[in-house]
Amino acid sequence: MSAIVQAPIDPRLDLAEEIIRLKKEKNAVLLAHYYQDGDIQDLADFLGDSLQLAQEAKKTKADVILFCGVHFMAETAKILNPERIVVVPDLTAGCSLADGCPPERFAAWRARHPDAVSITYINCSADVKALSDYICTSSNAEKIVRAIPEDKEILFAPDKNLGRWLMQKTGRTMHLWQGSCIVHETFSHRRIIALKERHPDAKLIAHPECEEPILKMADYIGSTTALLKYTISDASKKYIVATETGIIHQMKKASPDKEFIDGPPVGSCSCNECPHMKLNTLEKVYLALRDLSPRLEMPIELREKAKVAIDRMFALS
Ligand code: 13P
Ligand code: SF4
Repeated sequence: MSAIVQAPIDPRLDLAEEIIRLKKEKNAVLLAHYYQDGDIQDLADFLGDSLQLAQEAKKTKADVILFCGVHFMAETAKILNPERIVVVPDLTAGCSLADGCPPERFAAWRARHPDAVSITYINCSADVKALSDYICTSSNAEKIVRAIPEDKEILFAPDKNLGRWLMQKTGRTMHLWQGSCIVHETFSHRRIIALKERHPDAKLIAHPECEEPILKMADYIGSTTALLKYTISDASKKYIVATETGIIHQMKKASPDKEFIDGPPVGSCSCNECPHMKLNTLEKVYLALRDLSPRLEMPIELREKAKVAIDRMFALS
């Protein structure tokens, strides 16, 4: 089988200008998550957290959705827009949470708890969505857990940290899938304590995917959009940000007078950068728009099954 050869990029092109021109020419909308590099965020027609991106994908009228995020997010956009072309800069941009929850193991887990309701974090594959009762994101998870009748057993997958935090908030006991995010489990409790000592005026803000010791210390916990909004409305001038570093681009834009310090990882790595999100580059964004490839395609049956649990989430959000 011969591989498709992609025409090279003309080095004289201004990629940002070309992307803007191609968006118009192809009637495309560029949806981007806050963990994308700043140059991609700056070209987005809509930026948001997982819930907002799914909501925006649901209402777009564009012919083409160029989704700059990771695979499960683009998959959700396709499930909600089967008739539109969904393209991604890199089809291999996955997610450690989704990878750690294979559908066969998830189905076996469900089978061991036949009377339980399953709430699954949107960071999962379409196959797992199709096996779930409800989908949730970090911004609506609490509402969805509270909507389940008290006498019902709940299975929560795949993020154990978000699940534990929800149990503490709602007082509900849930069976937790033991998955975690490679980025959010990287923050060092010890180094954050040291940072707080050096910056006593800084507030610690954290995504609920972080581990328990970090969440216990946090001044504020929320989805990426909630964290951004908090830094805008809160009176403090300094924040230690325990989530993927890409969000700091918007925080700085919205509050240029404030200081944002990256939450320190355990080692000297750049582990607070999501390696999946960062597979997307301006070059790949340009190529995806120019060639309308790679496309996200899914079997109809899978789309329709996965949509049921997503629609239940929308009904409750
Ligand atoms: P948000 O829904 O808060 O944007 O989170 C998505 C995500 O992948 C966090 O790691
Ligand atoms: Fe997945 Fe973590 Fe990357 Fe979010 S930051 S996409 S949860 S690996």
